[in-house]
Formats: sequence, C-alpha cells, structure tokens
Amino acid sequence: MPQLNETDHEIFPVSAGLDSEGNITIGGCAIADLAVEFGTPLYIYDEDTIRHMCRQFSGGFKDAYERSLIEYSSKAFANPALAKIIAEEGLHMDVVTGGELIFAKAADFPAENLNFHGNNKGREELSEALDYGVGRITIDSFYEIGLLNEVAGEKGVRQKVLLRVSPSVDPHTHMLTTTGILDSKFGFSIETGAAAEAVEQAVATEHLDVVGLHFHLGSPIFELEPYSQAIDYVLNFAAQMREAHGLQLNEFNPGGGFAVGYVGKELPPPILAYAAEISEAVRSGCDRYGLDEPMLTVEPGRAIVARAGVAVYKVGGIKRIPDVRIYVSVDGGMGDNIRPALYSSVYTVRRTRDPYATPTETVTVVGKFCESGDFIAKDVDLPVLDSGDLLCTPTSGAYAVPMASNYNMTTRPAIVMVKDGEARLIRRRETYEDLLATSLV
Ligand code: LLP
Repeated sequence: MPQLNETDHEIFPVSAGLDSEGNITIGGCAIADLAVEFGTPLYIYDEDTIRHMCRQFSGGFKDAYERSLIEYSSKAFANPALAKIIAEEGLHMDVVTGGELIFAKAADFPAENLNFHGNNKGREELSEALDYGVGRITIDSFYEIGLLNEVAGEKGVRQKVLLRVSPSVDPHTHMLTTTGILDSKFGFSIETGAAAEAVEQAVATEHLDVVGLHFHLGSPIFELEPYSQAIDYVLNFAAQMREAHGLQLNEFNPGGGFAVGYVGKELPPPILAYAAEISEAVRSGCDRYGLDEPMLTVEPGRAIVARAGVAVYKVGGIKRIPDVRIYVSVDGGMGDNIRPALYSSVYTVRRTRDPYATPTETVTVVGKFCESGDFIAKDVDLPVLDSGDLLCTPTSGAYAVPMASNYNMTTRPAIVMVKDGEARLIRRRETYEDLLATSLV
C-alpha cells in the first residue's frame, strides 16, 4: 500500500493514508468520496488526531509536572461534537464570549471545568457565565474587576478568578497575534504597575476569590525561551504581590500558543519540549522566589485541532499568464480561511488523487472571492491540474472555519468528523435560506 511521504506524515491527520488507487484517505474515508457525498468546500476533522493531541498534552505535561491540567482554547474551533471529545479526554476548556459559552453548554461541558477569558466581557456575558457556574473567570481590565464583583454580588456568589497580566515579552510571532508585549490591549501590565494595582483592587473585593495569575504571549510560538523568560518574570511578580497584598498563587496559567507544522520545512518543537521548558521554569521560579508550586494550566487551541482538520476544494478555472503566473481557482478561499490573506500564513496543498505524481507546474491557488488578496497558497508545485480536480490543505483545523465569513454572500462549508471509515456531519453547509434569515426587507 502506498504511504504519505515523510513530511506529509507529520502534518496530515494521524489516520491519513493513501488507498490502493493512490487517493488520500482520512479516518479510513477517501477524501474524493467525502467530497461527492458532502460537497465542496468541505472541512474534514479526524477524531483520532484530536484524541491523540489531547493525550500528548495531558500525558506530556503530567509527566513533566504532576499538578498540571490542559485547557483547550475553544476559539480555535468551537463545536459541540468536538467539545464532547474534549470533555471525554478530561481536558478543561476556555471560552471568550457568550457565543462560545453557548457551544460549551450545548455539549453539556462541565461548568466547573470552564474558564471565561476575553478583554471586554459584557455584563450579560458575565451574568450568563455565573448562571452556568463556570469554574474560573480570567479578568482582563479594571472595569471588569468592578463589573464582575457587582454581578457576582447581585447573585450572591463568590467567583474564583485569575488576573491576566502582561509580562512585556515578545514571542517573535506575527504582530497581529502577539499579545504579551507592553503595547497590547490584553492584560494588566506588570511593567507599568497596573498589574500590582489590579491585584490590590481584586483581593480587596467581596465577591472575587483571586486564585492565581494568567498570561498569554501570542500564537503560534516556535521558540521555547519566551515562555521561561515570561514565567520567571511573572513568578517574581507573584512573590512580590504575596508580600504586598497577600496574593496566594494557587493556580498559574502561562497561556497557549504552541505552534504546529503547516509546511514540512517549518516544523515546531515537540510538545514534550514545551512541557519540559514550562515545567522547569515554574519549578525553578518557585524555588527562586520562595513560592509553593501552583497548579499549572496551559491553554492550547491550535495545537489540539489544527492537524486534525483538512480543507477540501474543487478546482474551477485555470488562468495561465505566460511567464508570469498560473492562477488555479478553487470554490472556497478567504471566506472559509482568511489566514493567508490576514497573516500571510502558508499552507501545504496536495492534489487528493495521486498526490506525489511529478510536479509539473508552480501555481498560485486562489479563492472565488472578489479580492485580489484572496489566496490559499502562493507558488506551490503541483502535478498538472484539470478543472474538477480536488485539492486539499492539511493543518486547516484551527482558526479557519471559526474565522469564516459570508463575504460575497457565500455559504459557509460543511464539516464532517471521520473515524474508522465512517463520516458524520458535525456542521451542515449553510444554505441560501440561512443567508436570508437575518435580513429584513
Ligand atoms: N489563551 C489565550 C488567552 C488566547 O488568547 C489564545 C489565542 C489561546 C490561549 C490559544 O492560542 P493557540 O494555542 O491556539 O495558539 N487567529 C489567529 C490566532 C489567534 C489566537 C488568539 N488567542 C491565527 O489564525 O493564527
């Protein structure tokens, strides 16, 4: 039986392979068959890969630091079927809006295992979170300290909270996805003294129980050192806050941001390397600053779901401009994956049939949206293509469909979950009726 090549093996789902006719399969299903059954563009998620990644994180971090837990960041892909798997695997989950909370509720996700993030949660959202009984709320502004204390007071509850601090550490990723530097909307800056003031205010409230600190540097982070640098800085701050305001650091959350391989030549460090770096930094920082070792939580989003998802498109028109470029148009694009247009993100593209036939052309794969910046991948080497061929992009499971839009009044794609040769729809394709449903004449 033919196999995926070595680098594709790292970036396609763990269950991916080739069938006897040379078609790419995922979870025992040929992509071409799924495209016929469910149409294109189509997003295919592999259940085995999701569970594999959950276990890599849980096991990897537990081995490195016993009192650790993994919180899946649901903004990477929020879906009830996925949330059920996340819960079954024993992970916690974070949400950042009332909408993401609704998805967690739809899966009956255990409320105690939810953490509500976000830099501008509204009164209604906080109220919904308290009513559901979320385990933690991570506070991001002075306004929120007052607002949450008030809402919790109205409901007669005392809410466990973390404070999000900003450590002024640059993780060297895309500017638009950098969050832990001084010039950021997120978190209380330690450098400016805002974080110390936030601790003082929050511990003095009646209805907030400050259980620890949180930070998140950005995403995706290919380097390990920014984590240990920031952890040291924040633990030092925590020790100072214990002296100044009696802060007890029972829980510590250095965020997510773990990178994944989108293309074979840019593979990230293994999860075990992140686990070792972070655990060691927490242990040595606690030792250095005389703190008890806290419960450690990390929040991977991308690294849990990116590799599990594969996007499938059908080729339409092909435009050849001699000596300039070949444009291959597909039936999706920036409407279902804006990442190339927004961050210049790179993706691997494969023809789903006979993917390793000798590449004959360098092409640019573009979408169907009325924007010149609407592309999937620039200058990729592919075998000769015909209209009607299927192309797929692996590592499309994170931040593609969640950031999808109805631009140009397109319908958002269907999503299927595959396992052991079976495919089940976990989100149906939108219809024209859906597009019209919210507009009034
Ligand atoms: N925790 C917090 C507080 C976050 O803000 C994020 C991501 C995560 C955890 C999860 O980060 P991850 O492990 O997925 O890297 N749309 C961008 C990514 C934005 C990430 C926003 N926050 C992209 O497509 O690359």
